[in-house]
Amino acid sequence: MNEKKLVGEKAAEFVKDGMIVGLGTGSTVYYTLEKIGQMVKEGLQIKGIPTSMATEKLAHEFGIPLTSFKEVTYLDVAIDGADEVDPDLNLIKGGGGALLREKIIAAAANTFIVVADSSKLSAKLGSFRLPVEVIPFGYERTAMQISSIGCVPEMRLSNGNPYITDNHNYIFDCEIPENSQPHKLETVLNMIPGVVENGLFTKMADVIITLDANKKTVLMK
Ligand code: A5P
Repeated sequence: MNEKKLVGEKAAEFVKDGMIVGLGTGSTVYYTLEKIGQMVKEGLQIKGIPTSMATEKLAHEFGIPLTSFKEVTYLDVAIDGADEVDPDLNLIKGGGGALLREKIIAAAANTFIVVADSSKLSAKLGSFRLPVEVIPFGYERTAMQISSIGCVPEMRLSNGNPYITDNHNYIFDCEIPENSQPHKLETVLNMIPGVVENGLFTKMADVIITLDANKKTVLMK
């Protein structure tokens, strides 16, 4: 059974005619995009805003019409994946490197829906290292400041070179302190000069679509 497909396709049921839809990034929301593409072919009228260049490409492939913040100021719904989800619906995101645009879009959406297979559920955030996007200028000093609040940053690499985000920034994957309070850490990290955004999404998700022990889709709210 493909858990990602089950939760990904379920999320497409929240997409209705006339909506502006935030289109997430990753291998779970892939199935949402594929499904929305089919619905568009069958007559659904929506416009999407992609959270990454990879998703923009997929949206073109699946025939999903796109818009941008030049034309709209908010979204009806955003659907995205997560790397880790806790019982209070706090998330770690950014494993795919798209956290900055993902957070801009989630914050602009009236409803933020997260698709997460059962492996993503966790009693406490921190088993997935927290992605933190930083500007290249002064990144060495930014890393020191991230360390000074108890996180352990490691620069994300791609073929031996710094991984570059869609926004031309770097990412540090950070071990977070065991006793971290997610909302506090999200806020404190973003106060460090050079940090653009981090992958903690606290107080943002409205609904998590996941699976119960019988592999039936369930909604956590
Ligand atoms: C992209 O940067 C991430 O935030 C993804 O949404 C997250 O990594 C989930 O991806 P998968 O659905 O591929 O696990």
